[in-house]
Amino acid sequence: MILRQAVTADPVFEFAAEVRAGLLCDGQKELPSKYLYDDVGSALFEVISALPEYGLTRADQRLLRENAAEIVARVNSPVVVAELGSGSGKKTRYLLEALDTRQQTRYCPIEISHTALTMCARELSDIDHISIVGFESEYLDGLLEVADNRRVGEQLLVLFLGSTIGNFDRPADAKFLRAVRRILRSGDALLLGTDLVKPIPQMLDAYDDSLGVTAAFNLNLLGRINRELGGNFVLSQFKHEARFNPETRSIEMHLRSERNQNVTISRAGLTVTFRTGETIWTESSHKYSRPELLQLAMAAGFRCEEQWVDDEWPFAETLLMVDPRG
Ligand code: AVI
Repeated sequence: MILRQAVTADPVFEFAAEVRAGLLCDGQKELPSKYLYDDVGSALFEVISALPEYGLTRADQRLLRENAAEIVARVNSPVVVAELGSGSGKKTRYLLEALDTRQQTRYCPIEISHTALTMCARELSDIDHISIVGFESEYLDGLLEVADNRRVGEQLLVLFLGSTIGNFDRPADAKFLRAVRRILRSGDALLLGTDLVKPIPQMLDAYDDSLGVTAAFNLNLLGRINRELGGNFVLSQFKHEARFNPETRSIEMHLRSERNQNVTISRAGLTVTFRTGETIWTESSHKYSRPELLQLAMAAGFRCEEQWVDDEWPFAETLLMVDPRG
């Protein structure tokens, strides 16, 4: 893999600043969900993906496996494939293998985690007609670079899979899609994977599994603050909670304080007070309806070329083409 790294600010300083801002506010305490994914969190997320209660990743994979040939046939060639968040690379394999083997295609995973990028490159390095150029950067910065460096006549196929868009606050999801659209041009495409609304008990079980893996994934955020920022959270004094918010149609993950307590985070220069029952909101996972998805895409300047929905677990793979008027 060829690796391009963006010059970033000191990551510990940034983490400390965001923890301070999220825990010092007057109302609901919050932590950004991106910090769930250190090496431990990413490994736990891999386990979540295999849990019987969490059908999202399997649905995403099934749809790509079954429809890869049709998806790539609808995209203009020659193509450069850019993926926002490389994940493990497993499901992307179906698409890359379906591409025309007669020409060499660049696959550009864009990811802030160096470990995830390396794992993805290792997983996909055996595909002969694919050369991998990884971008260790924020999604939009990386995408801009991929778009700027394309050769004459090359189209871009952007992959945003696994319903990661559902973890954006709303309306940040719409704003993000518009920003992606502005980087693209006529003929380019976006394949968007999104989890769909389903019965509330099924959604709650998916985020509060019987083995407690999602609870460990959530609590690891406090563990990470202890490890990286010198915090003294006692993990047994916080409990994982999954809630459905009907107004935003999102599953929210929270960490609930089991008692009145003070927590000190030395490298963030911070002591935080928690009341019994008070929570830290750590993630939202929005569940879409199909009309809402189409509306969102249109408003961002895309038209829907095709949509595939899984039979077992409501999840949609939507192929969006740049609308030149959008
Ligand atoms: C990565 N993302 C789409 C997952 C989701 O379902 O929102 C993250 C996750 N959080 C808890 N379980 C899985």
